[in-house]
Amino acid sequence: MKGVLFDLDGVIADTAVYHFAAWRHLVKKHFNAELPDKLEEKTKGVSREDSLHIILDFLGIQVPQEKFTALAAEKNQAYVKALDALSEKDILPGIKDLLDDFKKHNIKISLASASKNGPLILEKLGLTDYFDAIADPAKVTAGKPAPDIFLAAAFALNISPYDCVGIEDSVAGVKAINSAGSVSIGVGGDELNHADKRFNSTADLNYQDILEAWKAYNHN
Ligand code: BG6
Ligand code: MG
Repeated sequence: MKGVLFDLDGVIADTAVYHFAAWRHLVKKHFNAELPDKLEEKTKGVSREDSLHIILDFLGIQVPQEKFTALAAEKNQAYVKALDALSEKDILPGIKDLLDDFKKHNIKISLASASKNGPLILEKLGLTDYFDAIADPAKVTAGKPAPDIFLAAAFALNISPYDCVGIEDSVAGVKAINSAGSVSIGVGGDELNHADKRFNSTADLNYQDILEAWKAYNHN
């Protein structure tokens, strides 16, 4: 194991809730509609535009391109506003220790988030210096569940994806890690049973178990 590819929202910080809250608010305001809880998982790990497609499909609403772009921009504005108060206290349990352990063991650390707000969030959390690379989601062709962002995150470290583990809280994200050929670590419930190794919460993540998982499941 030489590198670790981190998802951000829902793994490093508890920002997943802000994403869906911003979508709910937008949909209420523009279409006077409610979104069911079950739709949240479908938008996790998925790009801003793909999330909006999923939501509009669910509502059975079609909008012209201009309106689509405006809706996506408005959602992002609300989301970024909600991030105003984000600070170190929003780092999920166990993550700081895990980052320290990876550093101690000379494991390179890369960000593989679908979010264009990744660098801003790492800055607010005071975690930027831990990261050897940040893959730019604007530069990859296909979003999760396609492997592209994890491949880009590994290549940015100059490390083979086979020598990396990826850590994810979303169904689409675990699929993406598996397709990239890295060892997948899922953080969440049974919906993530396609992960090579699953932990119930970030507090359970630890270097030793992740290393064991890599040894057991790597594709070299
Ligand atoms: C992912 C989130 O990390 O980033 C998704 O899980 C979100 O919910 C996606 O849609 C894109 O984020 P952003 O910040 O670029 O709109
Ligand atoms: Mg996530």
